[in-house]
Amino acid sequence: MLDKNLLKMVLDASKPNNHIYFDVGDITKLDVECIVNAANRSLLGGGGVDGAIHRAAGPELLAECRTLGGCHTGEAKITGGYNLKAQYVIHTVGPVYDNDDPKCEKLLRSCYLSSLELAKQYDIHTIAFPAISTGVYGYPAEKAAAVALTAVGKWLSENEDYGMAVIMSCFSERMYETYQKVIRSLHS
Ligand code: APR
Repeated sequence: MLDKNLLKMVLDASKPNNHIYFDVGDITKLDVECIVNAANRSLLGGGGVDGAIHRAAGPELLAECRTLGGCHTGEAKITGGYNLKAQYVIHTVGPVYDNDDPKCEKLLRSCYLSSLELAKQYDIHTIAFPAISTGVYGYPAEKAAAVALTAVGKWLSENEDYGMAVIMSCFSERMYETYQKVIRSLHS
């Protein structure tokens, strides 16, 4: 269920230091300090954005991922970016969508919050997220967008002096429109 108060923070979160941007395109092309990978628990690569990031970063990324011992759903781990423009990749594992499992929303929210906390530990100030779990893991885009925006908005309003530019990377216009629809629903 969309929490309007939390979502309002999405707009208020754009304080002079904190901004949320949207980009339609390939996350591997973004010139940001860190891109987030929608990985699986093995952290050993896959399809979708995971495959794209590993292809663009090169084999050293997989070599470093092998040393991490996997990652639990909802948690995040960090590596170098290697051949990417991004200096870092934060790997997080989204939930496989299950309409009957209320834990899904909590785990998806945790992907965004743990990635942002990890980025702060590394003094990262520009970070791009794909629409985690909305591909292979089947999370309905509009529901996922609401979770993503409220999680990012909450974190930014709780860290308003940190100065974080968050880019929501959309692999399609459709995903971009979905984010905008969720934000517009604030005014409904
Ligand atoms: N840039 C930005 N976004 C992308 C890119 C890209 N190059 N490629 C795919 N996406 C988008 C998809 O369109 C979708 O909106 O990333 C979102 C997440 O989709 P998936 O990559 O399928 O990730 P997810 O749904 O979280 O499933 C993760 O898929 O690839 C495997 O190893 C991965 O097992 C894991 C599972």
